[in-house]
Amino acid sequence: MEALKDLYHQARETRERAYAPYSGFKVGAAILSSSGKIYAGCNVENISYPCGTCAEAGAIAAMLAGGDTKIQEILVIADSSPLILPCGACLQRIAEFATPDTLIHLADMEGVKQTLPLSKIFPATFTAKELLK
Ligand code: THU
Repeated sequence: MEALKDLYHQARETRERAYAPYSGFKVGAAILSSSGKIYAGCNVENISYPCGTCAEAGAIAAMLAGGDTKIQEILVIADSSPLILPCGACLQRIAEFATPDTLIHLADMEGVKQTLPLSKIFPATFTAKELLK
């Protein structure tokens, strides 16, 4: 429970630093890694629109840079109703470092509103075992 509060606050604080001059839509994400460390990220847009990156991608990059590789829980926050879900590309990014049971917390400016396991949101992940050979 304490960890969830920390996740929320770090995602919320990092969201404030999002660079979203084109959409005006700031997103924050925070990962609780298997080591217990928290890593946060925000969306970073670009004048060349497709170059923009999502908050989840930033949090995942921070996690790897910090020496962790396993997402235990991840929280995504936006000032939005309905709540936002990670986009399709981010679900694939999350799945790379998560398990089907990894919890995804969906939050707005009031708090965490919904928690779902990854398997519920993303039941059919792209996996190509032959690529691991
Ligand atoms: N965005 C995220 O950061 N995460 C998502 O899962 C969905 C969308 C960002 C991308 C873009 O900067 C803005 O939200 C509007 O799409």
